[in-house]
Amino acid sequence: MKLENKVAIITGAAQGLGAAIAQRFAQDGATVLVCDMNVEPGTATAAGIVDAGGKACFRKLDVTREADWISLMESVRNEFGRLDILVNNAAINIRETIEVMQEKNLDAMLAVNVKGPFLGIKHAIPLMRASGGGSIINMSSICGLVGHKFTPEAYTVTKGALTLMTKTIGVRYAKDNIRCNSIHPSTVNTPLVQELFKDPERKKERLGEVPLGRLATVQDVANSAAFLASDEAAFLNGVALPVDGGLVAY
Ligand SMILES: NC(=O)c1ccc[n+]([C@@H]2O[C@H](COP(=O)([O-])OP(=O)(O)OC[C@H]3O[C@@H](n4cnc5c(N)ncnc54)[C@H](O)[C@@H]3O)[C@@H](O)[C@H]2O)c1
Repeated sequence: MKLENKVAIITGAAQGLGAAIAQRFAQDGATVLVCDMNVEPGTATAAGIVDAGGKACFRKLDVTREADWISLMESVRNEFGRLDILVNNAAINIRETIEVMQEKNLDAMLAVNVKGPFLGIKHAIPLMRASGGGSIINMSSICGLVGHKFTPEAYTVTKGALTLMTKTIGVRYAKDNIRCNSIHPSTVNTPLVQELFKDPERKKERLGEVPLGRLATVQDVANSAAFLASDEAAFLNGVALPVDGGLVAY
């Protein structure tokens, strides 16, 4: 099992991609801290992993609060004595175009999508360094690589910031054997998207932009995260990995 003996923090892991990554990491042998501000589904996700024979626990974390990160890292240090993997997955998307975007909504997106990962990395580094190294994975988007015509601007701004946060961390902390890479999924098949696809025009529009002609699955993304987290990716650092069926290739 390629993540055996590794301790992993995953943010926004109560549901969606974060939950799928948590499940996958646990299958690969990691001890997983399912972190989210949403307690009930987060607790259920961690319990599901344990029921399936994995090692997991839930921790309440609001990624925008530095005090939450400090107490999370203290508890990880005390209980597990090490940290190997941090996945900054939590994000929000308030779909307002730039001309109508309300300032408070822009601030909220910057806080969760940019400040959150920044604080997480800040407080993970000392523990990773003491553990002999680590793998940080930032969940960006194709919108962190290109201007995407179906996506309002603020999301692109936050995901682009994450792309370069990844590279600067990868460059500075390679000396501590800490690697930092980002994942850039195209639209993932979630209940929300299925709702959107009830409109055949929307479906055609979205699938038409993907050379492989389908949506990403949560497994496509979780598989990539498991690879980047593992020692098999020991020489991958500062990489922006599209998981998009070729969408940004042309
Ligand atoms: N779903 C897609 O199509 C898609 C495509 C590309 C990239 N992404 C990215 O993948 C990641 C996960 O997406 P998803 O669709 O699973 O999202 P989701 O909305 O289903 O889940 C996000 C999780 O983050 C949590 N969260 C929100 N704010 C938080 C905070 N302040 N502190 C802690 N937790 C918080 C929520 O409670 C939720 O559990 C995001 O970074 C998203 O931008 C998603």
